[in-house]
Order: sequence, then C-alpha cells, then structure tokens
Amino acid sequence: MLCDKYREYLNWTVYQIYPRSFMDSNGDGVGDIRGILQKLDYLQALGVNALWLCPVYKSPNDDNGYDISDYRDIREDFGTLQDLDDLIAALHQRGMKLIMDLVPNHTSTAHPWFRESREDRDGPYGDYYYWFDEPPNDWQSVFRGSAWEFDPVRGQYYLHSFAVSQADLNWENPRVRREMADIVDFWTARGVDGFRVDVIDMISKDLQKTRGTFGPRLHEYIRGLFGRENVSKLFTVGESGVNDMEELIRHCAAERKELTTLFLFDHMGCGRADKFTPKPDSLKTLRDRLVYWQEAAEKHDLILTLFTDNHDQAPMISRIADDGEKRYESAAALAVMTYLLRGVPFIYQGQEIGTVSPRYDSIDDFDDVETFNAYREFLGTMTPEKALEKINFGSRDNARRPIAWDGSANFGFTTGTPWIPCHSRAGEINAEKDLKAEKSVYRFYQALLKLRASHEAFITGITRVLSSPEDDFFVFTRAAGNETWVAVINFANEQKIALPFECEAPVLANLGRDTIGGVYAPYECAVAKAGPMKSPMARSQDRPWANEDASLMKTP
Ligand code: GLC
Repeated sequence: MLCDKYREYLNWTVYQIYPRSFMDSNGDGVGDIRGILQKLDYLQALGVNALWLCPVYKSPNDDNGYDISDYRDIREDFGTLQDLDDLIAALHQRGMKLIMDLVPNHTSTAHPWFRESREDRDGPYGDYYYWFDEPPNDWQSVFRGSAWEFDPVRGQYYLHSFAVSQADLNWENPRVRREMADIVDFWTARGVDGFRVDVIDMISKDLQKTRGTFGPRLHEYIRGLFGRENVSKLFTVGESGVNDMEELIRHCAAERKELTTLFLFDHMGCGRADKFTPKPDSLKTLRDRLVYWQEAAEKHDLILTLFTDNHDQAPMISRIADDGEKRYESAAALAVMTYLLRGVPFIYQGQEIGTVSPRYDSIDDFDDVETFNAYREFLGTMTPEKALEKINFGSRDNARRPIAWDGSANFGFTTGTPWIPCHSRAGEINAEKDLKAEKSVYRFYQALLKLRASHEAFITGITRVLSSPEDDFFVFTRAAGNETWVAVINFANEQKIALPFECEAPVLANLGRDTIGGVYAPYECAVAKAGPMKSPMARSQDRPWANEDASLMKTP
C-alpha cells in the first residue's frame, strides 16, 4: 500500500518551465518570472497544478543557470526575489505548487566559495572543492574534454564534471553539506514545495573509480539533505542515472527518508544511438521501457515520474513518432501512453502545443555549451555539414527555443530580440494557432488531464498491460474500486485492434472515434471505461501483469 505522503503526490501534475524561453515580460529578450506570472491562467486551464522552474539563481550563465554564483538570489534578467515571492504567493492562491531546481554538485567558479578556495588553500573554503597537484584520474567532463582544469591562482587542478566554469563541490567536507542543507531551508522557509535535484548521483564520488557517480556515501548525503524532519514534506525528485530496481528502492522507498522519486533516463535512448546520432525506432521501445518501470514500481509501492521531454533532450516526438503530417496524432498518442500510467506527470513547456525539433542552417543559431563542445569535436572527423546535421538532431537547444505564443513578431515571446533564434517552425506551431485548430494538442492535453484528475483509477489504480511486446500497439488498463479504464494507443501502421471486453464509448480520442475496438489509423488513440469482461481471466486482479491475456486481442 502506498503511504499517505506518496498518495498525495500522485495528484500532482507538473509543468516544467525553462524560464529563459518561456515568456519575456520586459522586452530584454530573456524570459522571466513576471512572464511566468502572466501565463498562470494558461497553465492552470491546461490542468497542471505544480511548476518546476529550471534555475533562476544568480549565475554567469555559462550553462544557462546551472552554474550558480549565489544560491539565495535571482539573476537580474529573471527578476528579483520579490518576483519569486509573488510567484509563490500567486501559485499557492491557485492551489498550485512550486518546485525549484537545486544544483548541489557544483557551483560556478564565480561563486565566492570558489574564489576564496582558489585564493587561500588553508582558509575556511580551502576544502570546498576537489583540488589536486595532479589529476587523480582521467575522468572526462560530461560536456567533453578532461574533467580536470589547472587553476593558476591556486596552482592546482580542480574537478569539473560539466563545463570548466562549473567546479564540483567536495561533499566529503561537512561544511559543504551544511551549506546545502541551509540553502534547502532558505527556500523552504520562503514557501517552495519541492526540489528537482540536479545530478544527485554525482554528489558522492570515489576518485579511484572510472566514473564520478554513485559514490559510497551517496545515500548518507541525500538523507542528510532531505531526511531532516523540518523538510520531510517536500516533494523531491532527483535527476539520476539509476537504472536498476534495487537502486530505485534505495533512493525512494518511503522509509529511507531520501527522495520522493527520481527521473529515470532509461527511455531516453529511444530513437538514438547516442545523443547526436539517430537510430530508427518507434513508440514500441518507449512502451517497453515504460511498462518495465511501471511493473517494478507498482510491486514496490514506489512512485515514478512520467515524462518524455525536458530541457536537455531533443523532443521525443521527433525521434520516435511523426513530427510532420501526423504531428497532432503523435503528440496525443505520446501523451496517453505516458501520462495515464501511474506516477507524477511532468510536461515540458511546449509539449502541450505539439512542439517538435527545429532545424537551422548555421551553428551560430545555437547557444549551448554542450552543443558547441560537441560541434568542435565533430569537426575533427567530419564535414561542417555533417556536424551540423548531428547538432540539429541532438542539441539541447532543440528543447530551449522560445515558446511560440502567437503569430506576431517573435511569436509573442518578447518585444525585444530573443536571446536565441525562435523556433524554425514557430509560424506553423504556436499556441494561438493550436488553440484555434480543430486538431488542438493543447485541448487534447486539457481533456486528458481532466480525465486523469477525475478518476481515482488513473491516480492510484492498478496498471495492467494487455498488449504483448510483439504488438505494434499498446493497450493497458487502470483499475480502482469498481472502475476500470482502458487506453489504446496505435503505433505507426493502420490496423485492427480488438479488446477482450466491452467498453463504453471513448471519452478521450484524438481522432474522435466512437468505439474502442476496430480499425485504428496511425497514431490514433482512445480511452474508454470498460464494461463487463468477456473473459473472466482478463480481469483477475491477482495477475496484474498477465500479458498472456493479450492473445485475446489478436485479430485475424
Ligand atoms: C543537469 C541539467 C543540465 C545541466 C547539468 C549540469 O543534467 O539538467 O541542464 O547542464 O545538469 O548542471
């Protein structure tokens, strides 16, 4: 049985905001907190009840805010602390929550701690970072190149798992751990409801190992941050490379007092061989990964995050579905197969209007440290055209283009010059146009979230998968009390899908079908309430994952 605390979190539907690109209220070309305040009606009408803000703290902006120079203040172009307080108040007034990004693994080298540390190795900040006369290992930075940088001021090397200006904090030092706990308390006292914790798996390291993740004291450190009584009500979601069940339990079982849930990235390999190399794929791979974790989490009473997109990934729709002619159908199908499972939905900004990957003709149209480093590396072995092709496929900027609100200048994002060129398809894909369209992704999301919020079956219900791994479609049920709901998602080919039980007419369907069984068009999906089963087997509650039932659905 889920504990009460987790039960409550299953009612959260989170919308992730990349503040730089969401809405600019003052014409400086950068999205800001006041811009978010302007769009709260739009977000609430969509049906989300929590926001996660990517970092808005003081930062030189080398990694768009993930390089923090003051954890307790706001970067000028995002606004002020007062703006953030206003946002918290406005959200709470609407019964909505705020999740802030916490970046505990590293600070900017412009942070006063780093400045003190490099200038005085025997001073109070001398051990805040990892300093060595010679690199103790050959670790590579996630953003490419050596993870060790020589600092001429201190005359030693420091570790940076990401950009050169993002120095890793030394969590072995109890003072560093205390600082981070104080930062959590600072924001909690201001009213934030939770944290998304950046690369949580990196805060404990074993410098003798080949990689700087999952060090021996990881769980002790996480408990030190979030296991404290005063912050026990926070919703905490860690970004982590966890990919096995035992580790998920160790992080998230309620009695561990560590994290509420994790972002698992197992399914991020869909449609690509590596971040910048496409691989032919379909919704099938995504389905298989989602099903695996549903099953595992259900068995152990854990809650999952349900997501396909974020600010670091090219949109899933462009990798495994149809982002052209069947864009609306694909966006809806992805939403049904992700957000009607059990867990906490995370919708990335723009997904709700069917935003896809853009395309540009020049590297100058990009503005991301990882993208630039990768491009430089590619140029060593391929032509500029080929390198740009890879960037267009995998760049994080694919998810970071300003939201296109309407068809006006700069698509309603700013009255100034946007910090990065607008989306190359913004004329075709923008909120105003989508809302007016007969096939509106926003309205589909709205209906889906309303349906989800209105039935316990979608919140805590048992999940059963009826389709088999070979099927080019996905059928699952969610059941609680006397209610069973069934969701059918067809993949790329037209085909007939039959169910082993009667259903009422679909209440959610991207192409308006009026029966749940029958011929499905590519990416067509539907959700209906199940009537009595034709086969008693198909309803046996003690075999929630009885995939053998799928044989009942095989069609001639
Ligand atoms: C996380 C963030 C990413 C950032 C990195 C370093 O992966 O999601 O945007 O660049 O951490 O902080």
